[in-house]
Amino acid sequence: MKIQPDRLLADIEALAAIGDTGDGGNCRLALTDEDAGGRELVVGWMRALGLDVRVDRIGNVVATRAGAGGDGAAVMTGSHIDTVGTGGRYDGTLGVLAGLEVVRALDDAGIRTRRPVAVAFFTDEEGSRFPPDMLGSLVYAGGMALEDALDVVAIDGAVLGEELERIGWAGDAAVPGPAPHAYVELHIEQGPVLEEAGVTIGAVTGVQGISWQELTLTGQSNHAGTTPMRLRRDPTYVAAETIGFVRRLATDLGGHQVGTVGRVDLHPDLVNVVAARATLTVDLRNTDEAALARAERRLREHVAAVASAEGCEPAWRKLARFEPVAFDPAVIDLVEATAQRLGHTVVRLPSGAGHDAQMLARVCPTGMVFVPSRGGVSHNPAEFTEPEHLAAGAQVLAEVVTELAGVAERAP
Ligand code: HGY
Ligand code: MN
Ligand code: MN
Repeated sequence: MKIQPDRLLADIEALAAIGDTGDGGNCRLALTDEDAGGRELVVGWMRALGLDVRVDRIGNVVATRAGAGGDGAAVMTGSHIDTVGTGGRYDGTLGVLAGLEVVRALDDAGIRTRRPVAVAFFTDEEGSRFPPDMLGSLVYAGGMALEDALDVVAIDGAVLGEELERIGWAGDAAVPGPAPHAYVELHIEQGPVLEEAGVTIGAVTGVQGISWQELTLTGQSNHAGTTPMRLRRDPTYVAAETIGFVRRLATDLGGHQVGTVGRVDLHPDLVNVVAARATLTVDLRNTDEAALARAERRLREHVAAVASAEGCEPAWRKLARFEPVAFDPAVIDLVEATAQRLGHTVVRLPSGAGHDAQMLARVCPTGMVFVPSRGGVSHNPAEFTEPEHLAAGAQVLAEVVTELAGVAERAP
């Protein structure tokens, strides 16, 4: 059974034309018209392959190829097709489109698997418009109530449930969704590890812990010229101290600890006004839960001290908090052994990025296959993976999915 790289590359190009930012990248923020366009295109391909397509109440799409053994739990693969605002063309889309290529390869080989094979894409994996990230797969896995998800307010003020209705992708399949027999996701690494090691395939061991918080600092707006420094209550100063602290905290803690302030918003954001309010987001991650909790604690202590000295009031809002996830040892072994059998170099590594797989791991044996990212760059239009690496990852995925689904019949 062989995947056809040209078909996969053509699908990646065709999907990349939707939400094309003109610089090689994509912008299909969750539940925007561009996301809807991507959904239409991919579901059209799913239907053309004769898959049974179901849309659930949070807009997750699961397309199933029947198995010979009736409709027991499916072996599921997939990922997401929404992107960040300055996204590339491989993050998420590779996993979904490689899943469709697995179906084509099974069809070409005349293979009927014992178990059904399902290809899914999940709503709002990125979480950058509607936090938290992996929202759709979290609801699918029963980790977030549908009502709570539908009420999430976007950074642009839109309400998730209203946007889902507006684009016409509020389905009727129930959530939580049926637990698959197993879940395997192909994804670009989005970091430098595989490329620096000169390795083609990553057998992913799990996903690091994720902490997203929004910090609002309230001070006193005042005149930039007349207000002596001793009388200021300047939230921008506290925000700046916080941003510097996040960087120092990550380097002090070392190891896998990372820290990012991705959003900063000042009000009224004018050259001659000491701000009234500063709002920023802090993304902290670590493979070790205790270390991540320590980082969160140190951050809050630092902000409390600096804000108090400046006469500003800090307010925190949790946007996302997921503990580290370990994938299933048998699935990790199967990914590694399959890559070796196909003659690829392979290494085990944790994922620095969040993925839908970390939510499916709550309900079934789960693993991931990584392929290298050039320069370790992602969430950037320059995101790139060599075609031969895309093909290698898709072939490993096809063989792992087929092994998990079992072969009932093969054409002569
Ligand atoms: O934030 C993440 O790690 C993922 O891209 N949603
Ligand atoms: Mn992704
Ligand atoms: Mn991403």
